Parts: sequence; C-alpha cells; structure tokens
Amino acid sequence: MQRVETQIAKLINECDYEEVTKLFYKLSGGKRLRAKLILKIAPDHKDAPLLAAIVELIHAASLLHDDVIDEAMTRRGVESVNATQGSKIAVMLGDVLYSKAFTELVSFDKEVAKTIAASVTALSKGEMIDVKMAENFNTNEKLYLDMLYLKTATLIEAAAKASALLAGKDASSYATYGRNLGLSFQIIDDILDITQDAKTLGKPALNDFVEGKCTLPYIYLYEEFSADEKERLVSLHAQTLSREDATWIQKSMQKHKTIERSFELALQLSNEAKSVMNEDKDLVSILDTMIKRTF
Ligand code: IPE
Ligand code: IPE
Ligand code: MG
Ligand code: MG
Repeated sequence: MQRVETQIAKLINECDYEEVTKLFYKLSGGKRLRAKLILKIAPDHKDAPLLAAIVELIHAASLLHDDVIDEAMTRRGVESVNATQGSKIAVMLGDVLYSKAFTELVSFDKEVAKTIAASVTALSKGEMIDVKMAENFNTNEKLYLDMLYLKTATLIEAAAKASALLAGKDASSYATYGRNLGLSFQIIDDILDITQDAKTLGKPALNDFVEGKCTLPYIYLYEEFSADEKERLVSLHAQTLSREDATWIQKSMQKHKTIERSFELALQLSNEAKSVMNEDKDLVSILDTMIKRTF
C-alpha cells in the first residue's frame, strides 16, 4: 500500500499547485478499498500501484463533486472541501484530480485505459440519476439498484477488470466480482446511514432520506406500511426530521425488519462475488471485511 501512497503523492505533486496539495491532503485517508483491490488482483505488475493511485484520484474527485451535489459538510471525518473552501474550489479540485488521472491513464494499454475511463462516464451518469431520483419519493427497487450500479459499482467493477487485464487474468470473472462487491458495498453504506451515529460515519446520520434519497430500507418500509403510514413517510421525504419522526422511522424499520432485508441482499450479492472468486482467499476476505464494516 505504501507504493500506492507514494504514487498518489507523486501525481499530486505533479499538479504543481500548492493549493491542490494542501486541500488534497486535508481529504486524505479513506479506506482505499479500490486501491487494495487492484494490488490484490495484480500484485506483481509494476504498474499496479500507479493504476491504484489513478483510481483513488478518480474516487476522490467523485467524492468532492458528490459533496457539492449533496451539500455535505463533512467527509472522511473532517469538514468537506465545499464546507471550508466553497463549491467553486471543490468542483475545480475535483476536475484537477479527474484530468490528472486521465493524463496518467493514457500510458496504459488501451483496453485498461478505456475500462477505467468509461466507468467515470457511468459514475457521473449515476450521480445525475441519483439527483433526479431524489426529487420524488422513489419506491422502485430495480430503478434504485440500477442507479447504484452506475454510481458506485462501475468504478469498483472497472478497477477489478482493469487490474485483471494487467495481470493477464480472466477479466470477465473479476468484473463480476467487482460489480457485486460494489453493489453490496453501497447497500451497506445505505444501511450504515441509518444504523450508525454521525461521529462513526464522519457525516450526519439518517442524512440520505433528508437529502431525498429513498434507499432500500425505506423502499422496503414503504412496501410494508399501511396507507396512513405510507402517507406520513412520504410527507417526511426530503425534510429536516424532528427527533420524533426520526425515531418513528427507525422503530418502524426495526419492526418490519427492513434493515435485515437490505442486509440479506447485500450478503447475497457478496456471496455471488465470492462464488466467482472462491479460490482467492484475499479477495474473499475483502468481501468479508466490507460486509462487517461499521463506517
Ligand atoms: C464512499 O466510498 C462513497 C461510496 C461509493 C459509498 P468509500 O466508502 O470507499 O470512501 P472512502 O474512500 O473510504 O472515504
Ligand atoms: C457516493 O454517493 C459517491 C459516489 C459514488 C460518487 P453517496 O452520496 O451515496 O455517498 P456518501 O454517503 O456521500 O459517501
Ligand atoms: Mg453523498
Ligand atoms: Mg450523493
């Protein structure tokens, strides 16, 4: 992993603007899930650390833009860049990171470069769909999962596929692994938004629904609710929640086991990822850690 951090530092340094370096390191940290994946899949390839660094820059850029879109004040346990520097700087820092990543990607084999670059188009489309979907109370599970695939799973899928291509491994099964890992990862993320406190998350809790996002536990809750309860839930959509309303939502989710049902789906997707990777202990352990994560 140190090799990835060294590559990241080199790329940031090459941007040649101290403001970029300063702000990037304020946002440092993160779980480095995508980088770990690449190193595990292509451990012996000399360019794997660079590919991992590129993907982490892309991921950081997507988070910078995401926090502007979501008007999020915290990220990775510290104040977001948009909170401290404003949206203009956050958007442009994101652009610097995206374009630096693409510049470096050019030195890779065409198929590898295309895999990563295309996933950024998908991710950005996913973010647009996410914004649109939050305008209304969405109750369609399929629509929601299609959006999750674009928003979160495509970059992880691309990281797995591109590193398999580098290592001369079967790209298609690694892509399947990455896709299912990514979907499962975002479903866990959505669950944690409801079950964890703000301090653990590094961002406000129950925030998704306040932002208008009907994640799986809300979609399943709506399915279980009576007409009156449905009406109350819809009326709270995209509103600041009183403590009473927040407690009502959380208690109702416990009663109808909608967190469990969402977790079941995450587990099922994770098991599907396992089934294509059962011979690789390290990749299975990434899944197990991801499923058990608390932030
Ligand atoms: C956060 O990704 C955004 C999602 C796709 C859920 P991570 O949870 O991987 O973010 P960091 O890099 O660890 O902060
Ligand atoms: C994740 O979106 C960001 C991207 C995949 C680009 P969310 O808005 O769902 O994630 P958090 O909760 O801010 O990390
Ligand atoms: Mg967000
Ligand atoms: Mg978002």
